[in-house]
Amino acid sequence: MKVVIGSDHGGFELKEVLKNYLEEKGFCVTDVGCYDTASVDYPDIAEKACEKVLSGECGWGVLVCGTGIGISIAANKVRGIRCALVSNEYSAEMTKRHNNSNMLALGGRVTGPDLAKNILNAYISAEFEGGRHQSRIDKIKAIEG
Ligand code: RB5
Repeated sequence: MKVVIGSDHGGFELKEVLKNYLEEKGFCVTDVGCYDTASVDYPDIAEKACEKVLSGECGWGVLVCGTGIGISIAANKVRGIRCALVSNEYSAEMTKRHNNSNMLALGGRVTGPDLAKNILNAYISAEFEGGRHQSRIDKIKAIEG
């Protein structure tokens, strides 16, 4: 399974940790940047990462900025992207089970590396439940137009 990962400068360090972690777990990771701590604009990174998911090249993605807020807002502007800003394992599990989120956003200045790895594990281990949750996702799609 291919996974896309991206961050701005505020999320760079955590992005590197999570990229290595996903690779250790056997995922093929596409890194859309940034590649150092020089300042970049998180909407540019969000857009690049979302393209990889929408095209089908990657099954899902991870986005990191300082708080996770800006990059998740940007990703959620892209039709077809359901990006969940998560800071705990329970939310990560539930967003897969109920929202079938195709992007996770984390805050590199908020969430430590070990917790972030546990968050990814909770998301990876969970399964979308479908049923009434699919109907609700269909309603989200209807709002997107
Ligand atoms: C960059 O300084 C910071 O604003 C960004 O990483 C993010 O936290 C925005 O939501």
